[in-house]
Amino acid sequence: MMNAIVATQPQGDEDIFAALAAQPADALLGLIALYRNDQRSGKIDLGVGVFRADDGSTPVMRSVKAAEKLLLQEQTSKSYLGPEGDAIYADLLAEIVLGGEQAQSDRITGVQTTGGTGALRLGAELLKRVRPNATVWISTPTWPNHGPIFIEAGVAVRSYRFYDVASATVDFEAMMEDLEHVAAGDIILLHGCCHNPTGATLSTQQWRIIANLCEERGLLPFIDLAYQGLGDGLDEDAAATRQLFAALPSAILAYSCDKNFGLYRERVGALWVQAPSPASAAIVRSNILSLARGLWSMPPDHGAAIVRVILETPDLRADWMIELAEMRSRINALRTALAAAHPDLAFIGDQRGMFAMLPLAPDAVVAMRREKGIYMAGNGRINIAGLTLPTIPAFVAGLAPHL
Ligand code: LMR
Repeated sequence: MMNAIVATQPQGDEDIFAALAAQPADALLGLIALYRNDQRSGKIDLGVGVFRADDGSTPVMRSVKAAEKLLLQEQTSKSYLGPEGDAIYADLLAEIVLGGEQAQSDRITGVQTTGGTGALRLGAELLKRVRPNATVWISTPTWPNHGPIFIEAGVAVRSYRFYDVASATVDFEAMMEDLEHVAAGDIILLHGCCHNPTGATLSTQQWRIIANLCEERGLLPFIDLAYQGLGDGLDEDAAATRQLFAALPSAILAYSCDKNFGLYRERVGALWVQAPSPASAAIVRSNILSLARGLWSMPPDHGAAIVRVILETPDLRADWMIELAEMRSRINALRTALAAAHPDLAFIGDQRGMFAMLPLAPDAVVAMRREKGIYMAGNGRINIAGLTLPTIPAFVAGLAPHL
């Protein structure tokens, strides 16, 4: 037995990592360096999804700076908080996300996570524990990291049709057709608002149909809410999430504060799980905490502490809401201007959030980058916040030949 193990061990200078295949760098994040190294003036960055002001910067929000100042003055310890992170942060944020009444429910339990990705991963690990043979169904298209997050956690992933790029519309019929065949106990991943990458929105009626389907067929909705407040408003953007939580016994919600608090690199997120009973929710919580302990032990504190200070300080909370409304107005004004700039872009005016997906072949995306210095994701997704009213004409001129 011992010998067999020794025989399979690498000998001498043999490469212990030889079984690994090289992995491509993340294409979306790779755009950050590509853009930075482009020396052309007039280049336009519509790549990674960060909010940008008119001067192209992604500023730290006023309310965030003020909260950091308060923290610097008043924080007395950096001792451990535990795998749940900052519990007051999660409670205060729950009111913003789920609304007052649902946030009080003892069937819902929530913890701080390391960004929205951490929330998705923690939720995936929970699914792996409770439904090891279930499949998570993700939309086509979706954020390119959704599939890998679940697959890395050992959860099977399949796709449902969602959006028709050519007609720039949600193909709800196709979506329902695919979801009709999903096995009971499977999970549907849904974007709570501001769909990434398409910007497409579902109506209240369509969300009701999805809720009914989940109820009738015993499907579990797993909502990813990463852009609350950047579409139509804080309450409006959370309406679908609240609708599903109200209609169903169980639901999962992964949340990100990256965009609406501008805290990207601080990695601030949260996971909420609704269970059919308070007793079940308590057991879920104990599992979430043990999973978090194994994943990252405890989430990083600084970003969540900022959000907590903003939400518990009335002046900062009010200012954050003003700043968020300004960001939202900027994006929606750009949407209106883009929609008016070319007949083939008219669809952008009715969509919401940071992104729109253009009907471009991959070589057109590369050509726009090489020839015009216009950067976007390989699937034709643009970050609308990367535009300004003055740069729209150059963008549309670069784009038009490819439409
Ligand atoms: C995006 O979609 O551009 C952002 O969510 C950034 C990321 O992590 O991919």
